[in-house]
Amino acid sequence: MRYSEDIIEEVRAKTDIVELISGYVKLQRRGSSYFGLCPFHNEKSPSFSVSPGKQMYYCFGCGAGGNVFTFLMEYENYSFQEALKLLADRAGVKLPEVSYSREAREEADRKALLLEINKEAAKYYYCKLRSPAGEKAMEYLKGRGLRDETIRKFGLGYSDRYNSDLYRYLKSRKYSDEVLRETGLFNADEKKGMYDKFWNRVIYPIMDANSRVIGFGGRVMGDGKPKYLNSPETKIFDKSRNLYGLHAARGSRRKNLIICEGYMDVISMHQAGFTNAVASLGTALTSQQASLLKRYTQEVLVIYDSDEAGIKAALRAIPMLRGAGLSPRVVNLNPHKDPDEFIQAEGKEAFEERLEQAENGFLYEIRMLQRNYDMKDPQGKSDFFHEAAGKLLKFEDEIERNSYLEAVARTYHTEPESLRKLVNRLALGGTGQEARRQQEAPDRKKKEREDGVQKAQKLMLTWMTSYPEILKGLSRYITSRDFVTPFYRRVAEMVEEQYREGQVNPARIISRFEAGEEQNLAASLFHTKLSLESDMEKQTALKDVICNMKESSLNYRLSHLSPEDLAGLQNLMTEKKKLEEFKAAPLPGDLSPA
Ligand code: GTP
Ligand code: MN
Repeated sequence: MRYSEDIIEEVRAKTDIVELISGYVKLQRRGSSYFGLCPFHNEKSPSFSVSPGKQMYYCFGCGAGGNVFTFLMEYENYSFQEALKLLADRAGVKLPEVSYSREAREEADRKALLLEINKEAAKYYYCKLRSPAGEKAMEYLKGRGLRDETIRKFGLGYSDRYNSDLYRYLKSRKYSDEVLRETGLFNADEKKGMYDKFWNRVIYPIMDANSRVIGFGGRVMGDGKPKYLNSPETKIFDKSRNLYGLHAARGSRRKNLIICEGYMDVISMHQAGFTNAVASLGTALTSQQASLLKRYTQEVLVIYDSDEAGIKAALRAIPMLRGAGLSPRVVNLNPHKDPDEFIQAEGKEAFEERLEQAENGFLYEIRMLQRNYDMKDPQGKSDFFHEAAGKLLKFEDEIERNSYLEAVARTYHTEPESLRKLVNRLALGGTGQEARRQQEAPDRKKKEREDGVQKAQKLMLTWMTSYPEILKGLSRYITSRDFVTPFYRRVAEMVEEQYREGQVNPARIISRFEAGEEQNLAASLFHTKLSLESDMEKQTALKDVICNMKESSLNYRLSHLSPEDLAGLQNLMTEKKKLEEFKAAPLPGDLSPA
């Protein structure tokens, strides 16, 4: 399924990129661009730039870049079609109806179809809960203290006692067995055929950040086993990339996000006003989930069960969160097991207090570490400080490291100076970091060489799009044929084509690349920095680029010339001579960048 390039361009042109991205990232004007903290990697100082002139964004830190479409594709995890639809809506552009070919529908629309079925299923469960059949389930939920509005907010439901209830309903809606099997909502059996996975359970629909139902959890009412059943992973349900409750928590006004373990905990916290709670999906927290959290907040409060399993999970989650650039703090619920129980027992004011008292993640790690050592034994104490020093060493920022060092020294009664000495000694003694750096060196050299070859082409494209007025004069020396890397050549051809048609428009070029990686690469081309002030500087720089580019192109073509190709050789010699003349003369007037 494809929309025409014209309609894509209309939507893009009617969307202001600064306005769009401002809704997600705090941007500040600096010169002709806007800067902010990059939403695609962890950083402390802004290297994410948005250019209103070019209608593109680019991160000088991680290389992410693109136009309004790619931004939504990366940020919201949308497909191109979804990004286009959203922006078309926003800009008031009516997209033409497209007719699907059978194959295109089966392939590209599989996800949409699965989402549609999930939505149907969620509605079905939701209604069941409110029907006579759902009375006991409703009683169960009410018995756990949930109010009507809460049940509605989380779309809770009930799966009936008959084991092919949902299956029969969806069949009546004409969905095929094949697609139903893919939803993960059914089991298949040779004798019984297909039947519901969930029956006689309270149903928790799992939604993504955009409130689309991507899976389900189902709980027995009472003590049966297994307590929870969850949808398996499907094309639309990736447990490592989603968080339960995020659709509701992302708009919360509270200053941080809470990560916990259970569906019921999330629901119970939201009901008590802690609308910033989310949970991982029955598995340990993943780095993708940590990055997802980072999009919405700076600080995360970790509330895991207060048993050994919970401590272990917290100790795994903390470095993961820190790795994503978040500040983790750990909430202590003692003597209660989980947030739901705490709130039932002590109320929301007491819970709020516990949140305020949350312990810094690093100090929590050290405190848990200390439990393994006998601090009354000199050897035990020394071993503990060694371990702690090793952890302190991992802080790259010196001020940060020092303040943690002092806190540890204070808490565990030792002199900051002696702890500092220990840290320094460990640092000198080699932590393996230096050795690793040396191993990387040859690889890096090779990469730098390759980069050098590409750099000329990349710079040239930057010039071509920043100063399209030079294109006419430039064509005497450089054409797309001089771009030896196929990808760069394709971009150069597009630039030439746009120039012929009257307007060079890099943001439009980016929409023509489908894959995210190519889009980033294309965006980086147009953002290579040209920090040149005077006209003189510009002219010298442009001349350099043309010479470098032409030289590497001639060399490349020469080395790929077949020995019999005399005409080709002749051609190259002529071009070579032209290059020498170009080098010797001042830059022609029509190549003067404005
Ligand atoms: P309640 O007992 O209803 O309060 O649930 P809870 O949310 O407190 O559950 P618990 O702390 O026991 O478990 C945390 C999370 O782990 C749940 O929300 C589920 O996602 C998952 N989980 C718990 N038990 C099971 C199980 O038996 N099977 C599977 N697959 N997941 C489970
Ligand atoms: Mn619980």
